[in-house]
Amino acid sequence: MRRSGRVVREVLDQLRTLVAPGVTTMDLERTAEQKIKDLGATPAFKGYYDYPCVLCTSINEEIVHGIPSEKRVLKAGDIVSIDCGAVMDGYYGDAAITVAVDGSITPELSKLLEVTEASLYRAIEAARIGNAVGDVGAAVQEFVEANGFSVVREFVGHGIGTHLHEEPQVPNFGTRGHGARLRDGMVLAIEPMVNSGKPGTRVLEDKWTAVTADGSYSAHFEHCVAVTKDGPVILTQ
Ligand code: MF3
Ligand code: CO
Repeated sequence: MRRSGRVVREVLDQLRTLVAPGVTTMDLERTAEQKIKDLGATPAFKGYYDYPCVLCTSINEEIVHGIPSEKRVLKAGDIVSIDCGAVMDGYYGDAAITVAVDGSITPELSKLLEVTEASLYRAIEAARIGNAVGDVGAAVQEFVEANGFSVVREFVGHGIGTHLHEEPQVPNFGTRGHGARLRDGMVLAIEPMVNSGKPGTRVLEDKWTAVTADGSYSAHFEHCVAVTKDGPVILTQ
């Protein structure tokens, strides 16, 4: 899983450098598809429930599962979430980042990105043997809400291994001590989705793109994290 995690990270690191005004989300998709191939891996998302692409690219009020398109041109002041999955030797990796398209994003949007990424690291700290799934969710929720943002309920993180989605579900909300206990060797894809406005969501006509119900902005960061005797180990670092 370190190997598939490394592939996903290399793809995201390259895509981050390409994000700029005028670039389309299909440009990112093409680069990602080639890079996954060059690294000897297979895309994890393409064909999964008939999903058409190797990336999910979600702009501004889009939360997750935005479909790359020639028609979606990134512009100054936008934020874009890039989510990538890859398979190596039968094992999955899955990670996401949200980046500003340029330096002109508002302070409120910068704060949304910072708080969402920081909430992921708080959740990772809670991914310890003997803790509950609720400890991970509560770590995200408490931090996000203390900063005036809200946590999406309809989409959650997940176990990951020889399948993209395994048990347990890993919500970004919860109660400390509640839910399944974390055991040595479990790997969790922890992926906070945070809205600048209210938590409500809806899915567009394309049946994939999830957007905020109130049109507010949304950010998304994801890592795969192994629960081990030495504490949490990030596999997509
Ligand atoms: N990171 C997302 C997830 O774990 C991406 C899935 S996109 C899909 O659910 F197309 F594969 F569904
Ligand atoms: Co995921």
